[in-house]
Amino acid sequence: MKTLLRIDASARSEGSHTRALADYAQFRWQEAHSDGIVIRRSLAEDPVPHLTSTLIEAFQQADHSNRAATRLSDALIDELRRADHVLIGSPLYKGFRQNSRIDLAQLTVGDSQG
Ligand SMILES: Cc1cc2nc3c(=O)[nH]c(=O)nc-3n(C[C@H](O)[C@H](O)[C@H](O)COP(=O)(O)O)c2cc1C
Repeated sequence: MKTLLRIDASARSEGSHTRALADYAQFRWQEAHSDGIVIRRSLAEDPVPHLTSTLIEAFQQADHSNRAATRLSDALIDELRRADHVLIGSPLYKGFRQNSRIDLAQLTVGDSQG
């Protein structure tokens, strides 16, 4: 059984072209993986906050004791680890969507599980 992680980065929930494209890609993926699991994350509805000094310090703690601070980062990493395939619906907003960069930063910096 395969798992798809779908990340929607558009600021718009209604009328979004990238969500419509991602809907189609997800539909085709589910045709090919009828028993597959889809994990969804919408950066508009569930924004990933900016990195803070508290969070960076929590990442750097050798014993990873500040679980409260790293909870979201841990959850994002867990979603990525569970995924066999990743689908990102992202508009171009003068480059890449700001929130997507933040999301990726948390994944890169924030592997507090070692
Ligand atoms: C503030 C803003 C900046 C944008 N910058 C770019 C850009 O640099 N390059 C581009 O090709 N499209 C750009 N666009 C167009 C969007 O990528 C396009 O409207 C896209 O459909 C938005 O995604 P959505 O329909 O899923 O919300 C920009 C749109 C907005 C509102």
